[in-house]
Amino acid sequence: MKIDFEETTDDLAKRINIHEQFGSRDIDSWMLEVLNLQPGVKILDIGCGAGKQCFSYFHHLNGNADITGTDVSRDLLAEAIAKNEQTGNAVKFQLLDFNLPFLMADNQYDLLSACFAIYYAQDIPWTLAEMHRVLKPGGRLFTTGPMPSNKQLFYDIIKEATGKEIPPMPGSSRYASQIYGTMQQLFSKTEQHIFENPLTFASVEPFMVYTRASMSEDRKLWNSLFQTHEEFEAVMQAIEKVAQRRLSQDGHLVMTKVVGGFIATK
Ligand SMILES: C[S@@+](CC[C@H](N)C(=O)[O-])C[C@H]1O[C@@H](n2cnc3c(N)ncnc32)[C@H](O)[C@@H]1O
Repeated sequence: MKIDFEETTDDLAKRINIHEQFGSRDIDSWMLEVLNLQPGVKILDIGCGAGKQCFSYFHHLNGNADITGTDVSRDLLAEAIAKNEQTGNAVKFQLLDFNLPFLMADNQYDLLSACFAIYYAQDIPWTLAEMHRVLKPGGRLFTTGPMPSNKQLFYDIIKEATGKEIPPMPGSSRYASQIYGTMQQLFSKTEQHIFENPLTFASVEPFMVYTRASMSEDRKLWNSLFQTHEEFEAVMQAIEKVAQRRLSQDGHLVMTKVVGGFIATK
């Protein structure tokens, strides 16, 4: 299956910013808690983007780790490399397309991490098998992604505003089912952790910033709802109206992020 992946760094940054400002919980702390990383660990981060998890692992271990971040986006890697100056360029970054054979030899890493990325793979079992191959025996694969109940309010408002069904999203439609199932088949042991983070909005503006950032660059996924710029704007207006009405009723909007963290041991 070919997945259209288009995400500008700007839209990703806007969404991360909204999570940080309006969420009550910190996902990086949760990841560190479930991973329980040990000093000296050798980590490969796949789909690292601007390096969010790489830097979180690095700081948590006070630099006592061998970390390589990889991504297919040269723009995001450039951002990660610029931020890496703060670590004295201690994290390695390199280009890697997870739809192609990894250049790494077998049995190299203690931890493979793929946060909010694996569901963009064209052939999930194939990519997971590559991840399994480069892990050391006893090494762990950690993936995160949205669960089916993720952002219920966001989808409810869009549905009400447009009167249309929500098209399948590559994350929530594949993550809990196909990805966890394949991890169970390939690995000796798997465990599932759930992270819930309610984002509480006292006005519609930040909700609309989030909605625009989410729907504009992922527009190919949403083309049953809009295709032209004018149609996009009309949908945004309809969404804002519904969001405003719900906010007046309830006093606030609560959109809960529900993330699954799956850990599989080789
Ligand atoms: C939602 S971002 C997550 C980035 C980062 N892990 C984080 O949580 O901030 C998804 C990432 O997957 C990367 N990605 C998409 N397709 C990819 C591919 N075929 N190979 C490697 N990375 C890919 C994107 O470039 C993007 O950085």
